[in-house]
Amino acid sequence: MTKTHLLVLCGGKSAEHAISLISAWNLLKTISHESFDVTLIAIDKTGNWWLQDTARFLEQEAHPERISIPQRTSKVWVNPGPETDSFYLSDQGRFLPQVDVVFPLLHGPNGEDGSIQGLLKHLQIPYIGPSVLGASICMDKDVAKRLMLQANIPTSDFIALYKSAAHPDFQAVKEQLGLPLFVKPANLGSSVGINKVVDASSYHAALEEAFQFDEKIIIEAFVEGQEVECAVLGNDDCIVSEPGTYIHEDEFFDYDTKYLKGKEVGMQIPYAKLNAEQIEALKAISLQAYKALECKGLARVDTFVTPEGEFLVNEINTLPGFTQNSMYPLLMDAAGIPYNNLIKKLCALAISRFRPMDS
Ligand SMILES: Nc1ncnc2c1ncn2[C@@H]1O[C@H](COP(=O)(O)OP(=O)(O)O)[C@@H](O)[C@H]1O
Ligand SMILES: [Mg+2]
Repeated sequence: MTKTHLLVLCGGKSAEHAISLISAWNLLKTISHESFDVTLIAIDKTGNWWLQDTARFLEQEAHPERISIPQRTSKVWVNPGPETDSFYLSDQGRFLPQVDVVFPLLHGPNGEDGSIQGLLKHLQIPYIGPSVLGASICMDKDVAKRLMLQANIPTSDFIALYKSAAHPDFQAVKEQLGLPLFVKPANLGSSVGINKVVDASSYHAALEEAFQFDEKIIIEAFVEGQEVECAVLGNDDCIVSEPGTYIHEDEFFDYDTKYLKGKEVGMQIPYAKLNAEQIEALKAISLQAYKALECKGLARVDTFVTPEGEFLVNEINTLPGFTQNSMYPLLMDAAGIPYNNLIKKLCALAISRFRPMDS
């Protein structure tokens, strides 16, 4: 059996650097080394690329806060051109052997936003996940919601604001969207810079904080309800999992709850409060959103279920976490696709949608 040479990129410049390292650590630990030759490149927080010894990377303990890039000896230089000489290892004076597929296991800005996908497109190597277009659409909460509205996919009411433009006063926003409100940077993730607003002073503080992270922010109507998540896998014909959810006490789902506590916070797969008909409707909306937002390969579609049983799609994550506690691989496992098969399918999907740039 020929092995697939899978290049995993992890780390990166985003706030989700550590999560990405844990996802890569989990992948190395779980993947079948009979089917895959895995090369691991870690991107540090300044953007430099370092080849990792996969065996030594695994020596890292499974304590998220302690995982960091262990080796910074073999710097990787990226060379756009034919796929055989894309990655040069300067200290070894050689190129990496030809890579079959890249898994950009990077979350948030600079990883999940189309930029790394653009680089991989120039390198002319198949890569897992959406194209430049799908990645950047899903990263921008304003554009994603506008496309959902256009496709009649229910999502909460919102307005987008640019830092450079005049901002509406609190009273006007309150009249339009009600209270409370959620203020978010348009292009971020992992709950960074997001605040719930209940009055004029928290409104001004929330705008100021969100604008520290992005030139564009969105203000959303508060949605009462449970956030549930469906995993989608596929390019054209897709598999949609049953919804899962986290049951938690926190005011809203922050970074720590989401990533570090994982199963401890009470993950529920499948979400127990929906009947079969509602589950089918939710899966259909998730798939509709996946298509409307140009997703390919995989994505996790996050949707609020209101007490009245209404669905409002919140967002799509095109490179969800792959840690041992991550919802996406666990949902797929529950759908009958265990981890190793999932990675195989993702590679096959990447290869099947690959088109050389100049063809
Ligand atoms: N409109 C809203 N109403 C109620 N809760 C919200 C709303 N928007 C976000 N939240 C809460 O904040 C969390 C983070 O917001 P989200 O839009 O998912 O951003 P991120 O990209 O950082 O995950 C959500 O998981 C949810 O718990
Ligand atoms: Mg989210």
